[in-house]
Amino acid sequence: MKAIIITQPGGSTVLQFQERPVPQPEHGQVLIRVRAAGVNRSDILLRQGGYGMNPAGQIPGLEVAGTVEACGPTSSRWQIGDQLCALISGGGYAEYVAVDERHCLPIPPSLSFVEAASLPETVLTVWSTVFQWAHLTSGENFLVHGGSSGIGVTAIQLAKAFGAHAYATAGSDEKCTACEQLGAVKCINYKLEDFEQALQEVQLNVVLDMVGGDYTPKNLRLLATDGRLMFINAMQGADSQIHIPTLMQKRITISGSMLKPRDANFKAALTTEVEQQVWPLVADGRLKPIVYRTFPLSEAAQAQELMTGSDHIGKIILEIQ
Ligand SMILES: NC(=O)c1ccc[n+]([C@@H]2O[C@H](COP(=O)([O-])OP(=O)(O)OC[C@H]3O[C@@H](n4cnc5c(N)ncnc54)[C@H](OP(=O)(O)O)[C@@H]3O)[C@@H](O)[C@H]2O)c1
Repeated sequence: MKAIIITQPGGSTVLQFQERPVPQPEHGQVLIRVRAAGVNRSDILLRQGGYGMNPAGQIPGLEVAGTVEACGPTSSRWQIGDQLCALISGGGYAEYVAVDERHCLPIPPSLSFVEAASLPETVLTVWSTVFQWAHLTSGENFLVHGGSSGIGVTAIQLAKAFGAHAYATAGSDEKCTACEQLGAVKCINYKLEDFEQALQEVQLNVVLDMVGGDYTPKNLRLLATDGRLMFINAMQGADSQIHIPTLMQKRITISGSMLKPRDANFKAALTTEVEQQVWPLVADGRLKPIVYRTFPLSEAAQAQELMTGSDHIGKIILEIQ
């Protein structure tokens, strides 16, 4: 099969389109013929060697959509020909990938493969962090930084669908308009306005942050009593100042999570809950896939370059004919 291989840690030129053996599905797995694969920030960090190990020889890609080509010896949930999307721990930039059958979701009839491939990583991350862990509930105020990112467009739509009031920050007026069209009450262009000043009157209950650095003291000042600050990255800086009396006075909870290293049973339970709680919203159009641009698999390097530039709104997807 054709696949994109990371030949050594580095820039996007280290990605090469090569021939690889088709994987064999093992017990509890299905082999998916990939028709579309999502591009994620984490793929870029992996390529750069940012996870503390040499990625040479690896195929990147954390989510795919396609059809079941074969089932492993004890796999029983899906049939050959079923159209699925799936969360995977790597290997998505390829014509075939073997996947834990419990990490797959059926593609709703209204969605294309490209649209379906845009969902697993962000939906499962947002559901586990914002809803399972931070317990965002109807009527609460929610802020997501990076509102126009793949994560952001999912978080805004899910918060709204579950009755919360979503706020966002983003780096341009165009991105802010897109966030508001998706349901954000207000999106602040942080390059023109200080988000802390702009949200002074809003009692925030949950903040989803991927920026860190000097955002943290601002987030803590904006959070209401019993507020929850959840980290999924720290793109601006891993270290932040925390004013402990603020935490004590407002009983703020700070936490964070990474989906990728969670074990297979956790991901299986999460997938089941997402199928029950979120998939009906996908089917009826309340959660829309937001795809900014597609590239052929052979142009994965260009797709990652586009993501690095951060001009996109929503997801970037690789297509495989
Ligand atoms: N922990 C987890 O399990 C998990 C899972 C999935 C994703 N994530 C993280 O969530 C974030 C969003 O992921 P994604 O795949 O949706 O990525 P993405 O679409 O590329 O979004 C990243 C966005 O962050 C904003 N940003 C703010 N400060 C930045 C900085 N210093 N450098 C670069 N971008 C900055 C950019 O928007 P502006 O130009 O508007 O600032 C950019 O669009 C990433 O940091 C990713 O690592 C974490």
